[in-house]
Amino acid sequence: MANSMVGANNLHYLAKNRDCNVPILSNISFDVPKGGICLIKGASGSGKSTLLSCVSGLLKPSSGDVYLNGESLYKLNDKERSVLIRDNVGFVFQDFKLIPSMSVLDNICLPSLIKSNLKKDETYSNAEKLMSKLGLSTLANARPQMLSGGEQQRVSILRSILKEPTLLCCDEPTGNLDVSKSEDVKEMLHRLSNQFQVTLLIVSHDNIFNDIASQKLNLVDGRLDPS
Ligand SMILES: Nc1ncnc2c1ncn2[C@@H]1O[C@H](COP(=O)(O)OP(=O)(O)OP(=O)(O)O)[C@@H](O)[C@H]1O
Ligand SMILES: [Mg+2]
Repeated sequence: MANSMVGANNLHYLAKNRDCNVPILSNISFDVPKGGICLIKGASGSGKSTLLSCVSGLLKPSSGDVYLNGESLYKLNDKERSVLIRDNVGFVFQDFKLIPSMSVLDNICLPSLIKSNLKKDETYSNAEKLMSKLGLSTLANARPQMLSGGEQQRVSILRSILKEPTLLCCDEPTGNLDVSKSEDVKEMLHRLSNQFQVTLLIVSHDNIFNDIASQKLNLVDGRLDPS
């Protein structure tokens, strides 16, 4: 589809255990248009994080494929897939995955510096502007492990936004935030979709995203609930 940003076609993921394969995702097909906001819900253990990992190129599915901006993600070789992901996909991990030996500001800038030809000064100055919007300015030189869970979560969100992805995958992006900070994050994500046509895949138990979602997927034991 011309307007498709990301989708899956008959995706399966089997986890290999010693003596058997455990189905984690089965027969998943969906499509999200450019600028769409897709909200993924489901009970703990239903496969939400596994699905986001497959869709964003981090985990190879056992069968089926993922389409990203017209490319068949898992038909590309590893180098081509890495470049496509580097240039298009931002990811907010459920467990943040900040680098402990780097300052907060360096963590936020790293993916943008790897991706773009922007000058280092410009990247750092853009990062500082974003940090002030989410109340993180005073933490620029701290190490991530000194921050609260909510602060680390906001840092990981800024890291993903700064690199200006065309697809942003967010795994429980408000899981550690209070209502007011969650509203700030929601507003920021909504603006990315409205103004810059960034496509969002959001895994969340938080009802806060219900009113901005353009489509909803419900996972039940690794399958899409048709209701
Ligand atoms: N490599 C693996 N081997 C065996 N089981 C796995 C493997 N990876 C994931 N699982 C299982 O797959 C299921 C789905 O895990 P996943 O992390 O995707 O769930 P989730 O919906 O994100 O849960 P939560 O809401 O708690 O974050 C879980 O039962 C998990 O134990
Ligand atoms: Mg999860």
